Amino acid sequence: MEHYNMNLTLKVWKQKNSKTAGDFETYAVKDISSEMSFLEMFDVLNEQLIHEHRDPIAFDHDCREGICGSCSMYINGRPHGPWKGTTVCQLHMRAFKDGDTIVVEPWRANAFPVIKDLVVDRSAFDRIIQAGGYVSVNTGVTVDGNAMPIEKGHADKAFAAAACIGCGACVAACKNSSALLFLSAKVTHLGLLPQGGPEKDVRAINMVAQMDKEGFGACTNTGACEAVCPKEISITNIARLNGDYIVAGLTADKNYK
Ligand code: SF4
Ligand code: FES
Repeated sequence: MEHYNMNLTLKVWKQKNSKTAGDFETYAVKDISSEMSFLEMFDVLNEQLIHEHRDPIAFDHDCREGICGSCSMYINGRPHGPWKGTTVCQLHMRAFKDGDTIVVEPWRANAFPVIKDLVVDRSAFDRIIQAGGYVSVNTGVTVDGNAMPIEKGHADKAFAAAACIGCGACVAACKNSSALLFLSAKVTHLGLLPQGGPEKDVRAINMVAQMDKEGFGACTNTGACEAVCPKEISITNIARLNGDYIVAGLTADKNYK
């Protein structure tokens, strides 16, 4: 596709912190290359703002290659923007055309309070992971891939679930702010493998309890989470988690924490 330059209008959510009200601020950005990533376009805008002694836009980013899950924001009403299965850092400006107005907002969920502008506090996800605990199996040094046979179907599903990068788009898209797609991916990727087997039941119970404690909502199966997930995590993981959770409730030692 041919390279082109564009002038854009950005309406970006500005908010000092979680205690203050926020509002949209309008910016004009000029000569943006269609080859730039969305975050590079923000870099250009921020350099311009710093040069003008104005407050730059706070946004999260780390890897810029779709791995860390930190570049979380709503773009034109969709978590991670218009491209399916793509994080904001991998979204390119060729998704837009000259003269476009782009609206950018942070994740909106009580469990993800705004730190500043587009940056939200997603440490609730870390606490859910921590509630899952450790695996008791001594994994030792790297083992020969053939030493522990794992059924191909299980290995594939565990691998697909392990692709979750904890970005929180599933929560942002859900009308209930449910974290169940994220949680089910984490439970699945360990629960289907032999190393994660011994703690399978208590892991499901403790992680769901922590999710409720953090204030995430319930799942009503709208599928909005799956539609926006940049790693295309399947909602079949939620069905598997629900099954695991019911079985765990009947069999797990409730005193185990
Ligand atoms: S399930 Fe998808 S949308 Fe949710 S945290 Fe994981 S990668 Fe992000
Ligand atoms: S910056 Fe790491 S996934 Fe986008």
